[in-house]
Amino acid sequence: MRDLKKIELHLHLEGAAPAAFIRGLASEQKVSLDGVFDEAGHYAYDDFPGFLRTYEAATSVLRSPEHYARLTREVLEQSAAHGVIYTEAFISPDFCGGGDVSAWRDYLAAMQETALEARTEFGIEMRGIVTCIRHFGPDRAKAVARCAAETAGSFITGFGMGGDESIGTARDYAWAFDCAREAQLELTSHAGEWSAPDTIRAAWQDLGLARIGHGVRAVEDPCLCEDLAEAGVVLEVCPGSNVALGIYRNVDAHPIEKLRERGVKVTVSTDDPPFFHTTMTAEYEALDRTFGWGVEGLMAQARVAAEAAFCDPETKARLL
Ligand code: HPA
Ligand code: ZN
Repeated sequence: MRDLKKIELHLHLEGAAPAAFIRGLASEQKVSLDGVFDEAGHYAYDDFPGFLRTYEAATSVLRSPEHYARLTREVLEQSAAHGVIYTEAFISPDFCGGGDVSAWRDYLAAMQETALEARTEFGIEMRGIVTCIRHFGPDRAKAVARCAAETAGSFITGFGMGGDESIGTARDYAWAFDCAREAQLELTSHAGEWSAPDTIRAAWQDLGLARIGHGVRAVEDPCLCEDLAEAGVVLEVCPGSNVALGIYRNVDAHPIEKLRERGVKVTVSTDDPPFFHTTMTAEYEALDRTFGWGVEGLMAQARVAAEAAFCDPETKARLL
């Protein structure tokens, strides 16, 4: 399973930082990160709001382009060790210069340079999806969209939104997504991880998305499943994340298989692997064990991911 060539479409760069990496940065800066780690040194949180708080506290020690270069290298090396040959990382200008375009450019240059080195060294290709954070509000999302639009190109290929889905409506963020679309960026947003199926339809249609982050609660609405299947909308499904955050009891209870059976295009990712104690290998093993996907089923899913990747046709052709 580890050696199968994998494509990951849904990975938060900051959320992929190993706990030891964040502890190292904290000690270099002589800051204490109270409540971020448990006794075993893992990330600590009780529920989704707690997860977001821990995530943001951990991110507070990522303070310079050089820190992001080190993080990018660490994450790509880890992903490559699990057979990932292509990854799309969500990157948040809110954490990289606070939404200021010129600071963002410096952070981005550091990440892009590291990604080029990692391609040679570890054999993994990376693209960045600039991501706004829903609970920071529509104005911050606009600033992030401007950062994305200014730097759209061969490395920054997408725009997305994460964070707390209970805040506002999709329409509140439409300006940001329109701005990104005009800059030729491809679009995805978290929806239906926590919120009801109608918010998936709203995000898909009001924001003009090609892909949806999670979207698993679509399973509760057969009509929505039919529409997503017909339109070929791709779900970035992260089973280990959903189980770790308590949305589903275990992988057996996870709807990924039901969604696939209904013809919805599903792909598999890890979201924030150290937070959820997962890896792409672990996700593959769980799906094979639980639903009997086998190498064939897993490879079929990887082809869906390759087709849905936010990259140029030549790169895509190499992945398929
Ligand atoms: N959901 C929403 N926002 C996030 C997540 C997630 O799983 N991870 C990082 N930001
Ligand atoms: Zn996510």
